[in-house]
Amino acid sequence: MNPKPPDLADRTIEVFDRQYRARGFGSQRIYPNESLIQFLASRYFKLSPDDRARVRVLEVGCGSGANLWMIAKEGFETHGIDGSAEGIALAQRHLEEKWGVSALLRKGSLLELPYPDAHFDVVVDIVSLQHLDLNNSRRALDEVARVLKRGGTFFSYRLSDQSVMRDAGLRVDEVTLSDITDAEMPLAHNGATSFWSPTVVQQLYGPAGLTVGAVERVGRTYANGMFVEYLSIVGVRD
Ligand SMILES: C[S@@+](CC[C@H](N)C(=O)[O-])C[C@H]1O[C@@H](n2cnc3c(N)ncnc32)[C@H](O)[C@@H]1O
Repeated sequence: MNPKPPDLADRTIEVFDRQYRARGFGSQRIYPNESLIQFLASRYFKLSPDDRARVRVLEVGCGSGANLWMIAKEGFETHGIDGSAEGIALAQRHLEEKWGVSALLRKGSLLELPYPDAHFDVVVDIVSLQHLDLNNSRRALDEVARVLKRGGTFFSYRLSDQSVMRDAGLRVDEVTLSDITDAEMPLAHNGATSFWSPTVVQQLYGPAGLTVGAVERVGRTYANGMFVEYLSIVGVRD
């Protein structure tokens, strides 16, 4: 019997796995996302070192650890998960060899988080859930809400529907392309990529048990004039 063909989520993880194998740390940023720093600074950097050590933070889709090292260095209890074994291996080296910090890292799926209910104070997603289609996004948001404590926060930074490449590939649902196939476009060939409006955020967060606290638009115009926009979203677990 032939093995089941990989679904879109598995194929997307394979794309990242290949990139990490081929390009190592060169395949992602190595410094943290600025909006994530702003989010943590506004809520958690004011805590004492002892209190920070009691704040349990999970990055879903942590990749090679660009954000995770900063979270660990700032003294939070740090956890990371990613579907790519290559990404996790790079993250381990990134934290330990470059920054002298550690985190609890696991290889696993955003669709089935291997953590108990109500385990984390904060979950962060930096450009990872954007690589899921709508059905899988619903599953991932249910999982994020399940592992968050009541009143815990979910910070997400993801592509918006104002981005130039939103139609540059084969559409699999209202907001998702199976890949950005136009090689001239930013983020081409990264597997499934979805583009949300603030309305889509509201429609998906509510049923998962997450209340949307704030949605900010963060835009960037590339040197060639191409415009890419992200949504910086703070959700609170009901
Ligand atoms: C663009 S990278 C971002 C990595 C990291 N958050 C950063 O900011 O550098 C997206 C990551 O999401 C992971 N990913 C995508 N789909 C996934 C899934 N279904 N389950 C687990 N990880 C997934 C990929 O392996 C990849 O490491």
